[in-house]
Amino acid sequence: MLNSSTHKITPMKILVTGGAGFIGSNFIHYMLAAHPDVEIVNFDALTYAGNLENLTAVEREARYTFVKGDITVAADVAALFAAHAVDAVVHFAAESHVDRSLHIGPEAFIRTNILGTQLLLDAFRAAGARGAKRPRRFVHVSTDEVYGSLGPEGRFTENSPIKPNNPYAATKAASDFMVLAAHHSYGVDAVITRCSNNFGPYQFPEKLIPLMIANALEDKPLPVYGDGQQRRDWIYVADHCQALDYVLRQGRAGQVYNIGGGQDVTNLEVIRLILKLLQKPESLIQHVTDRPGHDRRYAMDSTRIETELGWRRQFDFAAALKATVDWYRQNSAWWQCIRSGQYSKYYETIYGNR
Ligand SMILES: NC(=O)c1ccc[n+]([C@@H]2O[C@H](COP(=O)([O-])OP(=O)(O)OC[C@H]3O[C@@H](n4cnc5c(N)ncnc54)[C@H](O)[C@@H]3O)[C@@H](O)[C@H]2O)c1
Repeated sequence: MLNSSTHKITPMKILVTGGAGFIGSNFIHYMLAAHPDVEIVNFDALTYAGNLENLTAVEREARYTFVKGDITVAADVAALFAAHAVDAVVHFAAESHVDRSLHIGPEAFIRTNILGTQLLLDAFRAAGARGAKRPRRFVHVSTDEVYGSLGPEGRFTENSPIKPNNPYAATKAASDFMVLAAHHSYGVDAVITRCSNNFGPYQFPEKLIPLMIANALEDKPLPVYGDGQQRRDWIYVADHCQALDYVLRQGRAGQVYNIGGGQDVTNLEVIRLILKLLQKPESLIQHVTDRPGHDRRYAMDSTRIETELGWRRQFDFAAALKATVDWYRQNSAWWQCIRSGQYSKYYETIYGNR
């Protein structure tokens, strides 16, 4: 655990955008548990991917506040900064699903990931110029996908070329450049993290690992894109959250930090492991037409965050996958509700008229 007294930035009140999503909600749980002096304001539009049930354990916590709002609406963002004097922003809010960017279209991705990030940066700067209490740091949570696809060897470093291959990755790359521009042009204290594929509790069951676990639990076919030999550098979400905590407190302004699990596994290997853990037959595997432009391999070189900030991955892939499978098994009501569509109707009833 970090000893906050030894670190340069000790934020007390943190604005988390997209905190009702997968990684954001894990980050909120992590920060509230790890740091008794931290307060969180969670700003989330509650799109299909935002789920306040991820946060029921902290919703009555005095150090936690939820604000419903959209980062693409300048008035929402301005009202947020006017109402909450925050020390730092950790920006997760995004359209995050590659398949949606390909099949539904990139418009929402361009709006949220690029325009939304820019509006947040503008409001962050305006709050600094206005108030006695300035937000000090902006952590932009980005992805390894901005680097494109790797060949069979090597790892992405922070100096690898930015070569996104799908609309999601292209919009994340654009948002990274807007963040770097705000740092260079206006001196915004911004840091970018680029993390590999996360897995763990509260991941929306459209992403590979929760989808395969949920389908296997229901004895449904497990759709595998193409030959299933796409390699990903998996990281348990708790390791990502801890890395973000290190970057928030100690990272160098204007810097990019890669975060990886260092555990490359093919999609087919992941699926076979899930079936084994659930004692389900491999006959459930069904190969389907590959995703267009599907990147073959991602792998991150995390040397910078390890040597500069002293972060180290804590969780082994196999053990963390077992913990994740157990979580989905024990929390079937959570994902069944999402899959049945009841969840979206429920939250439309609760928040639709607000
Ligand atoms: N999941 C991964 O493996 C991974 C890996 C590296 C980086 N990332 C990045 O981490 C961040 C979080 O990813 P995730 O998997 O938790 O995503 P997610 O889709 O689970 O959650 C996104 C959250 O953002 C909210 N949101 C979307 N549009 C919004 C808007 N306009 N205004 C306010 N809130 C909005 C959603 O309601 C949701 O709660 C993203 O920026 C993603 O690019 C994800």
